[in-house]
Amino acid sequence: MPRSKGGVVARRSHKKVLARAKGYFSRRKNVFRVAVQAVEKAEQYQYIGRKQKKRNFRSLWIQRINAGTRELGITYGRFINGLSKAGIELRASFRLRQQMSLEALEQETLAQVNAAADEAALEAVRVSALGKKGVISERMKALGGMSPEERKSFGAALNLLKDKVTEAIAARKSVLTRAALDARLVTEKVDITLPARHELRGTIHPVNQVWEEVVQIFGDLGFSVAEGPHIEDDFHNFDALNMPPEHPARQEHDTFYFNEKEDGTRMVLRTHTSPVQIRTMKSGAPPIRIIAPGRTFRSDSDMTHTPMFNQVEALVIDEATHMGHLKWVLHEFCKAFFEVDDVKMRFRASHFPFTEPSMEVDIQCSWKDGQVKIGEGESWLEILGSGMVHPNVIKACGLDPAKYQGFAFGMGIDRIAMLKYGIPDLRAFFDSDLRWLRHYGFKALNVPTLAGGLS
Ligand code: DAH
Repeated sequence: MPRSKGGVVARRSHKKVLARAKGYFSRRKNVFRVAVQAVEKAEQYQYIGRKQKKRNFRSLWIQRINAGTRELGITYGRFINGLSKAGIELRASFRLRQQMSLEALEQETLAQVNAAADEAALEAVRVSALGKKGVISERMKALGGMSPEERKSFGAALNLLKDKVTEAIAARKSVLTRAALDARLVTEKVDITLPARHELRGTIHPVNQVWEEVVQIFGDLGFSVAEGPHIEDDFHNFDALNMPPEHPARQEHDTFYFNEKEDGTRMVLRTHTSPVQIRTMKSGAPPIRIIAPGRTFRSDSDMTHTPMFNQVEALVIDEATHMGHLKWVLHEFCKAFFEVDDVKMRFRASHFPFTEPSMEVDIQCSWKDGQVKIGEGESWLEILGSGMVHPNVIKACGLDPAKYQGFAFGMGIDRIAMLKYGIPDLRAFFDSDLRWLRHYGFKALNVPTLAGGLS
């Protein structure tokens, strides 16, 4: 076993070798000879590895270039020879850029910015310089691996470059936008002598108009608007309204039924707005004063009946309500709605399961040349059903009929619209014929109000 050398110089060089051998397994830390071997071996492998890597990388390009040159009818060797004869050096472009000085990079990038012909080209330059993988961004990332001094000076220069490029891009962008606008202004001319384009203007459907009028009038009388679902159950549409399953009135309603549910019950399309009475009484305490305008459905179709039509229900429940209140409210309504100073009314005894007593109400009118006039003449027109709410209905809603009573009525919105505006056929209401809608429709901005006039 050879003796270890001593002396200052030797120890210094030994130390270097030992330091490089650090991390290798075994006693190399203090046995110099073994350490030398390990370092030599490592260098050898490193060299081989690097060469191999280079070779692999190059072969990738050789394959591509080879394929490309074969297409042109020459070989890879001839192509490379030709290049070197012509004095062209082949180098990976990214290495070139990496090696490029900051000044050169600045020059090149600014030149690209100023050469960008449109906004898309400018954006491409921005991405290649400042984008996530842009040249400047890549250099920024490299700052991390530098010494603090290097980072300081290089970082500052790089930031300056970044700012310059950002500014140049913004300036170029405004130039390009301006140019694009100028180009548009030159090509797109507005010919102000052309006639105006025809505008289609919609109208308010007579049903909506009358609906609004009704809400206005009853709102003024202290009523609020209540709503209920179109799809109802038996309880709200029939039972609670004093129409048990065997009641004959149920058959008169031509009800649309849904398929039976698992428990054997069937939902219905509400046949009238009266179920809203039940929902209102069940959800709030008297005094109640509501109207409920809404769609209703019956399997029926002729001049004066459509499967879908509109009704407005009214309900008043309090501790001292009587028929005088009912008559007064209806009289006030009819005068206001038909816009007449007075109109005679006739209350005929009738029958509804949910009122007792029940009355059908007619209004005075005249017929001249097939035209009807309300508030004059000797004829009568039936417009609604009404009555004092049946105690059974009040009871079904959980209220005490000995304490509370009131009145109700139900009226066809479509029907009073036909009467007021002289529209002969109910079916046309729902045909969506533009000619009909333009003729009978109302101006959208003429909202009916009591102060400004209903129609
Ligand atoms: N619900 C009735 C129908 O559609 C109309 C009606 C009559 C409603 C009398 C009422 C009423 O509130 O009291 O035929």
